[in-house]
Amino acid sequence: MTHGANASAVATKLWIFAVEDQRAQITWRRLGPGRARFSIGPATWEVTCNGGPGALEVDGLEPGRRHELVVEIDGWGRPPLRRWFRTLDPPPGPELFRFATISDLHLGATRFGYFHTMRERPEPPEPHSIRATRQALTELRAWGAELVVIKGDITNDGRAEEWEFFANLVAASQLPYEVVPGNHDNRSPDRTRSAAQRLRWALTGGPIVQWLTDRTEGRPLRAQDGLSLVGIEPSPVRHLDIPGLRIVLADTTREGRHLGTLDSIRDEVCTRAAKAAGAGTPVFVAGHHYPMPLPIPHFWPPGVPPRQAQRFFAALHDANPAAFYTAGHTHRNRRYERCGVVVTEVGSPKDYPGVWAGYVVYEGGLRQVVRRVATTDILAWTDYTRLAALGAWGLWSPGTRQQRCFDVRW
Ligand SMILES: [Fe+2]
Ligand SMILES: [Fe+2]
Repeated sequence: MTHGANASAVATKLWIFAVEDQRAQITWRRLGPGRARFSIGPATWEVTCNGGPGALEVDGLEPGRRHELVVEIDGWGRPPLRRWFRTLDPPPGPELFRFATISDLHLGATRFGYFHTMRERPEPPEPHSIRATRQALTELRAWGAELVVIKGDITNDGRAEEWEFFANLVAASQLPYEVVPGNHDNRSPDRTRSAAQRLRWALTGGPIVQWLTDRTEGRPLRAQDGLSLVGIEPSPVRHLDIPGLRIVLADTTREGRHLGTLDSIRDEVCTRAAKAAGAGTPVFVAGHHYPMPLPIPHFWPPGVPPRQAQRFFAALHDANPAAFYTAGHTHRNRRYERCGVVVTEVGSPKDYPGVWAGYVVYEGGLRQVVRRVATTDILAWTDYTRLAALGAWGLWSPGTRQQRCFDVRW
């Protein structure tokens, strides 16, 4: 190693994106070229970097304490990079179950940005929306999820071919899954374009595709279509019980509208939440829309107006004080409380920062961890999309690490 021999090496946006009790996910926009050594205490990880984006998962950390990450690049000739972070303190009791959520897949989308001007060049055979979803499903399964809940905006336009992408992706992942629709799934598809696809399915589609086709007759999928491997009920609200938790799935969409509703599903959700409370079980509610903080939308897209949201969260907290609500729709990461209920918004796998969420159920609590989709091609794309809205998207969408990764205790 010669001092200064790697003077062209760069290090941009070295980011401790996710923390758990014993693991952390580190990503970077540009690192190297060269070999980088990541050290946390006595443990080290060596990574060959090409000067582009990348990610590293570190494991075996001590829970509930502050750690220092030190990164050295061979021959860089500059002081090592240092970052500090704290691992989470697990809630009491044994771990009972792991599941994951993804939302805002927008399958079929090829562009991003307010004016849809950002696109991959050259155009790849498969758009980033499909690649990011496939990779998110692979990663969340490797992380240990035994179930995935998909929280809406599965398709970009509700078109048949986009549902076909979805059916193929979830079939390939071999994970049990549950879905709730988003506003993009509950509007008229482009029937001219989808008619040929529907005909092709009828001739060539696999069983899931065929089942979907029969079920929806080509119209946008609704929660009551019961796209579920766990239980089918003819209702915009369903639930499933996993060890230590009841998951309630709620269709918050209004046909053809960006705006959502919580009034229409409040009683059904709260009845199920109260039954869980009677058995001493916490409840996790998954919907597409978030509670708006102000009566007038001050950012895009609009969610559920605050009075409706107030009624919903007050009733949910009354029904079951151990309640958690998570939304998608905004493509950003946030955590806040409404009437004593912890609420999160989790971003999309396909635009900055490009994420999915994992949940670990403990006897005495629940952990949320939001992770970036970590292949270099998706990191390169999602990093590029941070430049949307004159770069504001890069500041707006990630949220803080504490908003993404945390434990709640029941
Ligand atoms: Fe979306
Ligand atoms: Fe949405």
